[in-house]
Amino acid sequence: MNGESTLRELQELEAAASQELGQARSQDDLERWRVAYLGRRGRLTSILRSLPSLAAEERRGVGAAANQMKARLEQALEKRLQSLQAEVASRLAEAESIDVTLPGRPVAQGRLHPTTQMIREVCGAFVSMGFQVMEGPEVEWDYYNFQALNIPPDHPARDMWDTLWIDWADDRGRRTMLLRTHTSPMQARIMEQQRPPVRVVVPGKCYRYEATDATHESQFFQVEGLAVDEGITFADLKGTLFEFARRIFGPERRVRFRCDYFPFVEPGVDVGIDCFLCRGAGCRVCKNSGWIEIMGAGMVHPQVLRNVGYDPDRYTGFAFGLGPERIAMLKYGIDDIRLFYANDLRFLKQF
Ligand code: FA5
Repeated sequence: MNGESTLRELQELEAAASQELGQARSQDDLERWRVAYLGRRGRLTSILRSLPSLAAEERRGVGAAANQMKARLEQALEKRLQSLQAEVASRLAEAESIDVTLPGRPVAQGRLHPTTQMIREVCGAFVSMGFQVMEGPEVEWDYYNFQALNIPPDHPARDMWDTLWIDWADDRGRRTMLLRTHTSPMQARIMEQQRPPVRVVVPGKCYRYEATDATHESQFFQVEGLAVDEGITFADLKGTLFEFARRIFGPERRVRFRCDYFPFVEPGVDVGIDCFLCRGAGCRVCKNSGWIEIMGAGMVHPQVLRNVGYDPDRYTGFAFGLGPERIAMLKYGIDDIRLFYANDLRFLKQF
């Protein structure tokens, strides 16, 4: 090895290093480049290490050239690093910049579920007639759901409500807890707790062990109504429900009462309105009858009053239970109750 060949080697090395440096695209590339050329085992370092083997008169010139070249490469590295950093920064600035002239994204507005809206509307109608709103438990005792309502164990009327039982039995092995099948148990709970006059509406969820179809869900809501006082008559029940039907369905509505059986009322009725769509002529909504059933109702049975410690010779009352989903279906022409709980935004957004 002599000075001349070492100088040539240095020139080739510088040319190769400059070219590679120009191709570096990242800080990792730069680091690899630095290690390859300037690192402890790098190519330039190994040339510098071999300088002592040159003749003394060549060593100085070649050494100076090598050191100058090292300084140039280090400078070039620094420059390339800076330009890469500037490139990254400007790419970032472009990607993350905010265009203040763009219109803002609208904030999605939430709304109340149609059942909630209907429950509020129904309760609002009764509140304006002097009723109070109360709520109660969905997991209920057999006693309140049935026995207090004049439906003793093994009574055939229990078949009117397909019941979901809780896996819990008393010491005689009888199941005593259930998911309430209607809001009527609140009648007994409320009367146990307060003396007449009572005027309450109770919205709440109910559960039935039923196959679902277009008008039946296994979970649905009811709104219960109860008014008890001295001198309440069937005329009060009619007047209250007429007024309710007019408020919800409009002033033209006619209301029909037909005999029906519920063990906790006497007499019991089912309440219908004349079809708001065909006005009684007969159509799809009213199944050609001209009438639509909207709730069960009646005068509170004397035995129910006795069960809660009220004197049936002194107090009388009326009760009713309606399904807000069914009312909403009628009011808005919804043809399947299962739409309410399918979580389909296309349906829910319409309310
Ligand atoms: C009752 O549940 C009685 N507790 C109502 C009552 C209260 C009568 C007070 C007398 C005095 P019924 O099972 O008919 O009755 O239900 C009442 C209303 O709840 C129905 O008119 C209907 O609107 C709604 N409903 C009943 N079953 C379902 C169901 N599976 N899915 C949706 N709504 C229902």
